[in-house]
Amino acid sequence: MRLPIIAGNWKMNTTIDEAVTLVRDMLDKLDRIAGVEKVLCPPFISLSAVRALLLDSSIKLGAQNLHFEQKGAYTGEISPPMLAGLCEYVILGHSERRQYFGETDEIVNRKVKAALKAGLKPILCVGESLSENEAGKTEEIVTRQIKGALAGVDFTRDLVTAYEPIWAIGTGKAATGQQANHTIGLIRHTLSDLYGEPAAQAIRIQYGGSVTGANIAEFISQPEIDGALVGGASLKAPDFISIVQQTADAKQA
Ligand code: 13P
Repeated sequence: MRLPIIAGNWKMNTTIDEAVTLVRDMLDKLDRIAGVEKVLCPPFISLSAVRALLLDSSIKLGAQNLHFEQKGAYTGEISPPMLAGLCEYVILGHSERRQYFGETDEIVNRKVKAALKAGLKPILCVGESLSENEAGKTEEIVTRQIKGALAGVDFTRDLVTAYEPIWAIGTGKAATGQQANHTIGLIRHTLSDLYGEPAAQAIRIQYGGSVTGANIAEFISQPEIDGALVGGASLKAPDFISIVQQTADAKQA
């Protein structure tokens, strides 16, 4: 049995004060929900403040990106060792990074390796665009992204993968549970090609893209889906709590 994992990707939202308020609004209720791994991924500058609030809780902390170098002349960047003492997870290869910041599979691969070397657990994002989806290229794209990101990476249970179809991100048009389950099954198949079936069965794969309290049940009831990477709805305490609670209820049922 894979432990479900719900992560909130706050993206470029919240000042430090707003981040602290948001965590305070969800902390007690979220902390008490068992049977689900809970991860908050605020912007870099709020990691310290949020970490302090989460210290004695069951809620984990994640970053949204890192640079693959250890240190040096990379103005504005954050290295794996800087994050290692601060958080447990790091989102890598998000489609917004690929789209707006030119991240290629090769760069994502270097980041995955650097994260694991620093003891950070990657949440590796893959997903196809609308035009790729309409051209029937979903399998080809996600397979290429998984193989590219994991080239030369040994199997580890620390790896989490997220299937986030770009057309479903921030659009309110989520995939159906069946669609997401199908593609996540293909991703698991690719992981099985890389690492063998038992290893592939141990890796958790989330769905992301317009997940809300109103549709999480549809995703979490699918056999291949092990949780969600939540954007917009993770910025509202009641919505995020509801998503985590429904996940706990469904997986314990
Ligand atoms: P939304 O939940 O806002 O669609 O964002 C999904 C996402 O990109 C999470 O990483």
